[in-house]
Amino acid sequence: HTRYTGLIAHYRDRLPVSDSTRLISLGEGNTPLIQLQNIPRVIGKQVDIYVKYEGLNPTGSFKDRGMTMAVTKAVEAGSQAIICASTGNTSAAAAAYAVRAGIKAFVLIPEGKIALGKLAQTLMYGAQIIQINGNFDAGMALVKQVADHAPVTIVNSINPFRLEGQKTAAFEIVDELGTAPDYHCLPVGNAGNITAYWKGYSEYATDSATHKAVTNKRPVMCGYQASGAAPFVRGGMVDNPETIATAIRIGHPQSWDLAWNVQKESGGWFDALTDAEILHAQKLLSVHEGVFCEPASAASLAGLLKDLNSGKIPEGSSIVCTLTGNGLKDPDTAISQCRDSQPVTIDASLDAVKKAILDAM
Ligand code: F0G
Repeated sequence: HTRYTGLIAHYRDRLPVSDSTRLISLGEGNTPLIQLQNIPRVIGKQVDIYVKYEGLNPTGSFKDRGMTMAVTKAVEAGSQAIICASTGNTSAAAAAYAVRAGIKAFVLIPEGKIALGKLAQTLMYGAQIIQINGNFDAGMALVKQVADHAPVTIVNSINPFRLEGQKTAAFEIVDELGTAPDYHCLPVGNAGNITAYWKGYSEYATDSATHKAVTNKRPVMCGYQASGAAPFVRGGMVDNPETIATAIRIGHPQSWDLAWNVQKESGGWFDALTDAEILHAQKLLSVHEGVFCEPASAASLAGLLKDLNSGKIPEGSSIVCTLTGNGLKDPDTAISQCRDSQPVTIDASLDAVKKAILDAM
């Protein structure tokens, strides 16, 4: 019997750590791969759809996978502080893993543009929060400059250890399914995660000096953006990105070349969804499957639904959608989406409860 103690320990022979490395971990990874049971019927398609529910990581998003590696390596190198720009999830993960390591975290966030849950947790972990009058892209540019002038390690996904940690999500999927899916759908912001998944699938499909290939199959990678923040669809940077999916409100992606390489090598594509399509997919997952993800995460399913509809992704396919963050991250957007199903308020009496039940049946 071995206790699960996080993804570095689990996949250590495929990650850049040594026996003496102190692992900074909160038990991240090993997230559920949930097969959708109702949505295929609702949309009238014969397909195997699985969602990789990354919202069940310790801070509620996939960022924990990258952060355990980035902070482990920062500490190994003697760093006393980390810094990131963030739309909210990276800041929460950086803050938590910094606490775990006993180092300081500085996070730059766009003022008023991060979801409430992400702000709450980052405050609770005690990170130094620096709000800027600017968007994520402006914050990212500042972080890159300041790291040359201050003793801080950048833990955005331009830190290569982030992608090393995040590639383990692809390992988990292949370990569980026995092979890669036909298609893998992801929301795309900076495009670090789509790059990391491709790296993971590719390593599992390659014979190396130390490992025999686990599978010879890799999926077609489908990256979905919000239409107001869709540089990959536009084919150029976007200066004033806007979307309700604040996690992916990014116009100048950091992994531009890497992600185009993923698109070419996998035979995949990028597409954009409207905010309405994204929110619709988020709601579908909640009301038909009992799976609550944040808006940005639902871009993966929204894109899949669009491509199933057009036939671009054919029936009979197996598909994994990554649900990058927990729905609890953004309670404001969730509540405002449910205006037509507000709670009823009644007297605290048996009769009133009985009547409320009968009225609703
Ligand atoms: N989904 C969620 C919930 C995210 O928080 C992010 C990125 C993405 C998708 C996009 O992933 O950037 O690797 O393409 N969030 C970053 C942050 C920018 O600061 O939390 P990507």
